[in-house]
Amino acid sequence: MAYENILLEIEDRTALLSINRPNALNALNADTLLDIKNAVLAIAEDPNVDVLIITGVGNKAFVAGADIAYMQKLPAMQARAFAILGQEVFRLIETMDKPVIAAVNGFALGGGCELSMACDIRLASDKALFGQPEVGLGITPGYGGTQRLPRLIGEGRAKELIYSAININADEAYRVGLVNHVYPAESLMAEAKKLAKIISGKAPLAVRLSKNQVTRGMQADIDTAMAIEADLFGLCFATEDQKEGMAAFVEKRKADFKCK
Ligand code: HXC
Repeated sequence: MAYENILLEIEDRTALLSINRPNALNALNADTLLDIKNAVLAIAEDPNVDVLIITGVGNKAFVAGADIAYMQKLPAMQARAFAILGQEVFRLIETMDKPVIAAVNGFALGGGCELSMACDIRLASDKALFGQPEVGLGITPGYGGTQRLPRLIGEGRAKELIYSAININADEAYRVGLVNHVYPAESLMAEAKKLAKIISGKAPLAVRLSKNQVTRGMQADIDTAMAIEADLFGLCFATEDQKEGMAAFVEKRKADFKCK
């Protein structure tokens, strides 16, 4: 499929999706959201891909937010639909089976911060800047920021960032638990690919079931979450990879996982 506003390449069982509107600091308009949606749907089905990395083209921005020029004159119901579109696309990223790493290479503001939060793992360059500047524009976050930020860094810190529109740098994002690691800008992509390769060396189906357990379990009460875990743990024993993984351990050799 041809995409206008993203680049998509697949290498080494990892898909790299780069938001490609550098002249607008990779701001998200509806067309870009639809490109991301179509790419994620394709990657979810692609047997050659285990892990998805999302980043932004250029060395300045991951995504500087939803496109303000596009939103400026939207009537209320269209603005609502624009929020719902982004929410649906980000939820697709969050709930797709395959793990998603955000390689945050610069500004991750508003919708950009929200996109990164829909990913499973956030790695940041030391140049990254995170924030929810919406209230400075007379709007609220609309792509899940008011929900995912408090879940990730706690309600008090999230409210402070959202109410004040203060941006935080990569070190502060690391300190509050918004990002897993901070790397020098020039090594960010290599580190993201290194992590993707480690993940894709494990049993792919087990990784996907683990994501499913965490993502669904985090939204459920503890008893439901434990039941989800037990069910999917049990399901692993219906796979060749469980037999191979355990046989390899007992035989002191490297496992050769097959289930894609
Ligand atoms: C549209 C944007 C943009 C955005 C940057 N640009 N951010 N266009 N939407 N979110 C454009 C600029 O207009 C400019 O275009 C070009 O990108 C370069 O940006 P500059 O401002 O010249 O760069 P710089 O001075 O380095 O400042 C970088 C910046 C600033 C601090 C990131 O651009 C900025 O504050 N951007 C807006 C950030 C923001 O408020 N994001 C949240 C949006 S609301 P020209 O043509 O002049 O060169 C949101 C809501 C999500 O995300 C939910 C929706 C439902």
